[in-house]
Amino acid sequence: MPKMLIAYYSRTGNTKALAEAIAEGAREVDGLDVTIKPIQEVQARELLGYQAIILGSPVYYGTMAWEVKKLLDESVAFHGKLSGRVGGAFATSANIAGGNETTILAILNALLIHGMIVRGCASGDHYGPVAIEAGDARSRDQGELFGRLWGELTEKLFGGPA
Ligand SMILES: Cc1cc2nc3c(=O)[nH]c(=O)nc-3n(C[C@H](O)[C@H](O)[C@H](O)COP(=O)(O)O)c2cc1C
Repeated sequence: MPKMLIAYYSRTGNTKALAEAIAEGAREVDGLDVTIKPIQEVQARELLGYQAIILGSPVYYGTMAWEVKKLLDESVAFHGKLSGRVGGAFATSANIAGGNETTILAILNALLIHGMIVRGCASGDHYGPVAIEAGDARSRDQGELFGRLWGELTEKLFGGPA
């Protein structure tokens, strides 16, 4: 069964809440195993065990928190081994236009350099789900939608008879 990791950094709970909405959507996809956990608890080596890796960060000065960058930098030890897997990113900020998209794109840059497959969304949050602070019904819906979309892609690419 394909496995998805949703790893997030969250100091005050906003990014964690969005991660939970994504996990809820992903869990609607049959035949997908979903793990959600704080990024500080993820060892770079563990990434090899997942067919989909979705990373979330609060916006800190327009980009990801160092805890997220740390895992990405440590993942260089496995460079090339994540090629062809599904990648995605999400972010929360205090302000509209406070840097959610720049933060998502910074994370996606690293995932693309790993050779991962990144998808977008034609409606709503195009680059990945975002929330302003604790979020609202809109951000929860977008989180769930992305969870489903990334989950369906993962299942399509890696699912099927064992
Ligand atoms: C060090 C620091 C830098 C921040 N930089 C920004 C920023 O550039 N733009 C913005 O809109 N919010 C910024 N914020 C606000 C956080 O991105 C926002 O509150 C976020 O939702 C916190 O997520 P968390 O609850 O998961 O920790 C910053 C907060 C901190 C602590």
